[in-house]
Amino acid sequence: MELKENPIILGIESSCDETAAAVICGRRLLSDEIISSATVQAQYGGVVPEIASRAHTDAVDEVVARALASANVKKEELDAVAVTYGAGLLGALLVGLSFAKGFAYGLQIPLIGVDHIRGHLAACYLEEETLKPPFVTLLASGGHTAVIYVKTETEFEVLGSTRDDAAGEAFDKVARVLSLPYPGGPFVEKLAREGNDTVVLPKMLKGQGGYDFSYSGLKTAVVNFVHTKEQKGEPWNRADVACSFQKAALDILAQKAVEGALEKGVDTVTAGGGVVANGYLREKLAKECAKYRLKLVLPERRHCTDNAAMIAAEGLVQYRAGNFAPLSLNAKASIPLR
Ligand code: KG4
Ligand code: ZN
Repeated sequence: MELKENPIILGIESSCDETAAAVICGRRLLSDEIISSATVQAQYGGVVPEIASRAHTDAVDEVVARALASANVKKEELDAVAVTYGAGLLGALLVGLSFAKGFAYGLQIPLIGVDHIRGHLAACYLEEETLKPPFVTLLASGGHTAVIYVKTETEFEVLGSTRDDAAGEAFDKVARVLSLPYPGGPFVEKLAREGNDTVVLPKMLKGQGGYDFSYSGLKTAVVNFVHTKEQKGEPWNRADVACSFQKAALDILAQKAVEGALEKGVDTVTAGGGVVANGYLREKLAKECAKYRLKLVLPERRHCTDNAAMIAAEGLVQYRAGNFAPLSLNAKASIPLR
């Protein structure tokens, strides 16, 4: 098959609670659509897998039709279909994957299986048409927290990752103890803006931790602080807890990403994953990078949380590498970080 320089790729994402579709032409984003079941899931305080699968089944046809229409692309003009095959909720993944297989087979175009996490890392390519590895990237989502050296578009070296909870997971748990809705991250961020960094929390792994992170101690400290105050009937300020937690959780991410870039001798830092939508983290990364004259490329906020534009972007990477998937490709609940 002859590969095109700037193929038109449809990306489909259904790994969690967002059913999303996007169309790109080369690195140019032509459309980007999402139908989310997050507000339904919020009533249950988290994602209920069966509800997610049903919501994807209801939404996938429409979201793809919308993406093609707003891109002004006919399905016959597509060069490939890229779809998340893992990691995520199996039933949810199968909806997008089965749809993509049918679409690719019907149009006789290649299917590309995308690792969701690689999608998060590829989101930065949509920001800058000329961005090229090597660079160091910070990955911070609901399931992963890592500093990664990106050697080429397809070769990675994980410099360090979390030893326990992911940063996003810690945000969600702290949100719950502060009686904030699901998903917690954006609500903790909003509340933190009204508070001060006055609550003493344990220091995050520095120095001897290399590039590893640990969030379970910080999370437990916040939970214990709140429970102790409530048991003693002492007053406490929710916004101060949110602010102190956010600072402790995020400063270390920016510091370690920059340390990684300096150690590897690269001049660029990028980032991806839901937590990177956080305004405090974005500012902190900008300040740390400026200090060392490093260039920072951040995906737009909407391309940090789950979306299909990033799946199409990683689809383009795989297309250019000639990595196409057979129609027997199966969904995977987990894929090791590599
Ligand atoms: O990347 P993502 O959308 O899904 C996964 O692949 O996990 O990340 C979701 C995580 C959730 O834990 C959510 O609370 C967190 O990202 N998140 C945030 C913010 N927006 C989303 N965390 C902190 N601040 C935010 N503004
Ligand atoms: Zn994600």
